[in-house]
Amino acid sequence: SQPSVKLSSGYSLPLVGLGTWKSAKGEVGAAVASALRAGYRHIDCARIYGNEHEVGEALAAVLAEGVVRREEVFITSKLWNSDHDPARVEAACKQTMADLRVSYLDLYLIHWPVTGNTGPEVLPRLEDTWAAMEKLVDAGLVRTIGVSNFSVPKLERLMAGARIPPAVNQVEAHPYWRNEALRAWCEARGVHLTAYSPLGSPDSAAITKRPEDTPTPLKDALVGQVAAQLVRSPAQILIRWAVQRGTSVLPKSVNADRIRSNLDVMDWEIPADLFQQLSAIPHQARMVDGSFWVNPQGPYVTIHDLWDGE
Ligand code: A2P
Repeated sequence: SQPSVKLSSGYSLPLVGLGTWKSAKGEVGAAVASALRAGYRHIDCARIYGNEHEVGEALAAVLAEGVVRREEVFITSKLWNSDHDPARVEAACKQTMADLRVSYLDLYLIHWPVTGNTGPEVLPRLEDTWAAMEKLVDAGLVRTIGVSNFSVPKLERLMAGARIPPAVNQVEAHPYWRNEALRAWCEARGVHLTAYSPLGSPDSAAITKRPEDTPTPLKDALVGQVAAQLVRSPAQILIRWAVQRGTSVLPKSVNADRIRSNLDVMDWEIPADLFQQLSAIPHQARMVDGSFWVNPQGPYVTIHDLWDGE
């Protein structure tokens, strides 16, 4: 079994999971199969990625081969913004479960604290969406619930009225966007932090409309130096750094060799002095800055509103 962290729900989440955002149809199924055969026990999915049907096909095939049992694989998915209406939550979850061909999800997250972003209509409040998420646990559809892309103030607001606290906050984190204040707050409050885009998401530049030459931690000089010194790849340094700071981590790849090597981060460590240096890189900038949710009609009129200044 893979090293894992115990969540506030009582379930264990394997520290390294396969990311599937941007994994193309026709490629994602093979990636999932490679990952499970290589020993991954955690697959991170979302309805909006548009590929859950193919992920489900691959999962079913690998399970049928007897490579792993369903209970040994941790499957996450996420509720999309257009399904925040409490009346839509269960159907959205069931659609994802049907696509993934599973009878339960290990983890279901509110994907963004964004309840639609066009028009002045009255939108459901995050608290009400959360209550519908809690009902999924009651109904046995989902074992653990959490959120993604939530700031401290938004988590506080949600947790104030929650019957079941969010066990996970999945956010962007890597040496160029450490998100340290949020990580520390979450740790103190028993919310596990999962790092997405741990390699700096080099393949999302077009989607996030950032320049192709945006500096990326994969090409960082210090990361390269540490990799050379430890005889590891830059990606392995970044993934190991995430694990070593107590987060779980979701490297995305559709290449079987990279999938395999991205999991090989458990039986070695980054020495403390180098870890400190990686944790002090001054350049800090989000790759996925959420600017696509900023809208003059709200609910987030500025980028500050979305991230609450974090
Ligand atoms: P590919 O899917 O062709 O392997 P992130 O997880 O931060 O979103 O980054 C994903 C990007 O990093 C993808 O473009 C992926 O390409 C690439 N990638 C994944 N693993 C590695 C690796 N070990 N070395 C270099 N690039 C990698």
